[in-house]
Formats: sequence, structure tokens, C-alpha cells
Amino acid sequence: MHELHDAPLAPLTTFRLGGPARRLLTATTDDEVVAAVRQADDTGTPLLIVGGGSNLVIGDKGFDGTALRIATTGFELTGTRLELAAGEVWTDAVTRTIAAGLAGIECLVGIPGSAGATPIQNVGAYGQEVSATVTEVVAYDRRLRETVTLTNADCAFTYRHSVFKEHPDRYVVLRVRFDLEDAGGLSGPIKYAETARTLGVEPGGRAELDAVRRTVLALRAGKGMVLDPDDHDTWSAGSFFTNPILDADAYGAFLDRVRERLGADVAPPAYPAGDGRTKTSAAWLIDKAGFTKGYGSGPARISTKHTLALTNRGEATTEDLLALAREVVAGVRSAFGVTLVNEPVTVGVSL
Ligand code: EPU
Repeated sequence: MHELHDAPLAPLTTFRLGGPARRLLTATTDDEVVAAVRQADDTGTPLLIVGGGSNLVIGDKGFDGTALRIATTGFELTGTRLELAAGEVWTDAVTRTIAAGLAGIECLVGIPGSAGATPIQNVGAYGQEVSATVTEVVAYDRRLRETVTLTNADCAFTYRHSVFKEHPDRYVVLRVRFDLEDAGGLSGPIKYAETARTLGVEPGGRAELDAVRRTVLALRAGKGMVLDPDDHDTWSAGSFFTNPILDADAYGAFLDRVRERLGADVAPPAYPAGDGRTKTSAAWLIDKAGFTKGYGSGPARISTKHTLALTNRGEATTEDLLALAREVVAGVRSAFGVTLVNEPVTVGVSL
């Protein structure tokens, strides 16, 4: 196993932020992952799992423990069944399934990060979530001290949430299994209005897989959501906040605030979220609270392409980023009474 001491973590994150790790291990096989986790647990050493680093905010002081980079590889396609090692680059795996003519995860192309991270927050975009195609997750269970296989139901997937996020220190994902669909070169049903419009299909209709790939990549790029090392506007963790889900009372109170502030004819984005609850848009709330695209004058600013992405303009520290995030949370709360929750995992710091 590859081992470094006082190793900088910033280059392993898409924000390019955060201090060093006392020890950095890189595991290239499942056995190495399990051995490293066991050793940390046996010695009471704090452990930080690093996948693609695209959803990680590491404090400027770094991590006083063992950071374990998951660099396992494995892409096995048998019929419509796909098994990915946790360390596989997610968007590359998606591209391969599209090339193989299979539908089910094509709308998730262009999402940064590793395959193993996708079940943790039930990664989703453009009308697809991995919960719709994941059949099983093989993980090392630090409580039982053994490798276990979780079914889709065991994963308890909901919007950007799962059993893995519920118990953040319990599971280390090793493999993710999917069942995709052979629709003769066509995509799954296109559920997202914006993609359906761009593709020229009715919502719920299907399109050529490769056209979906190109459309999603173009939409993502337009929102600054495709990583480009040369473009600081993409030095982000994608969406920094989850979209708030409000119960009927909270939603009613929120609509009153919208009316007071923006007038009776303004309607916020609203999507039914089950049990009488409503999901609204964090990007919209941020925008309407006065934090428009490009907001900020320091080294951490809101993306010029999407209000939901906070970006490091090159010289930011984690504290700069957190100061901006706190300003946004406070501003949205005072404007609309809604408290935004961060989507990326924070290490050694909090909002
Ligand atoms: N909007 C604004 N200002 C902006 C951008 C958007 O007011 O600068 C408003 C618009 O009204 C727009 C609405 O926000 O209609 C929603 O925007 P968008 O369609 O871009 O979706 P989102 O809610 O911002 C979510 C996911 C993304 C995913 C896209 C596409 C979350 C937190 N974000 O973004 O996922 O790619 O939908 O499906 O669920 C991620 O989780 O990291 C992520 C990028």
C-alpha cells in the first residue's frame, strides 16, 4: 500500500482546499482497503475516506489521522448487470455503459467523483438517481468488522441520503452493483423537463443514449458543473446545498415570506416530495435572497453560472469558503425563514 506522511489533501479535492493529513494511504485492492480500515480501528486512529474528493470540504488545519484514498479498479458488465469497484471514476463508467447501449445511469454523466461515493448520498441529476438502478452495495462494516452486502432496500435511499450517510462512520463502500436496461440503444424515460425540452422529446419519452449524454454534458457545462482544471468557475463541489424539503406548515410559511418579499405573483420552484411535503430550489432561494451569480469579492465566490455552486477562485482557504457559505445560509434564513443544509461532507470544520 502506498503511504505518505504530512501529505497535502487539497490536490485530492475538487475545491483544492484543506490542510495535510498526518498519514495518507492509497489502496488499490479491496483487501488493502479493509486492512487499512481495520488497522485504523484497532489503533483508535481517526479515519478519513477519500474517493474522488468532489464532495469534500477539508479544514485548513487538515486531518490529524489516516486519510485513505480508495483507488480500486473494476468495471464488470454481464448482460445488463454492472459491478463497479468503489475507486472507479464515475463519469468514465457511465460513458462505458452508454457505449455498451445500456440505459439507467446516462443522465448521471459528467458528475465528478468515484463510483463508491454514488450510493452514499444517492447521487442524482436530470431525473435519475442511482437508487433506481443499484441492486446491491458491498461494504466493509466497521461495527460488525466484516464485509457485508446491502440490498437496495437496506441502503434506505431517499433524496441525497442513505443508510451510509445516516451512519457516516459505519460503512466503507467497496463495490456497487447495478441492473441497467437494454432499450435497444435508447435511454431510460426522460423525466427532467429541461432535458426533455433540449432533446425534443415529451417528458417520459426516450431518446438516443448518446444524444442524452451530449445534452446532459452541455447542460452541466452551462451551469459550471463539469470540472475543468483551468477554469476556477468549476473549482467547486457541485451543489453546495441540498434542495430544502418542507412540510405543509413550513411550506405555507415560506410562501407567505415569498409573497411579502417578492410580490403575490411570484411562485418559487416546487416539486411534490411525498407525505404532503414540497421540495423547493436552493439555487432559487440563494438568488432571490440577493446572492446572484458571481456574488462575492474575495477568493471564494458564487459561481458565475449557477448560484448553488460555491467556488474557490484560486487563492481561497477553507475559512474563506465557509465564511461565504455562512453568509448565504444567514441571508436565505433572514429572507425566507428556510435554513439551507450543506451537501458536501465537512472534515474538521462545520458551517
Ligand atoms: N435557479 C436560480 N438561479 C440559478 C440556478 C437555478 O434561480 O443560478 C433556479 C431556477 O428556478 C431553476 C431551479 O433553480 O429552475 C433549479 O435549478 P437546476 O435545474 O439547475 O437544479 P438544481 O436544483 O440547482 C439539482 C441538483 C443537481 C443536479 C441538477 C439537475 C441538488 C442539490 N442539486 O440542482 O445536483 O445536477 O438538479 O438535475 O439536488 C449536486 O447534487 O451536486 C448536483 C449538481
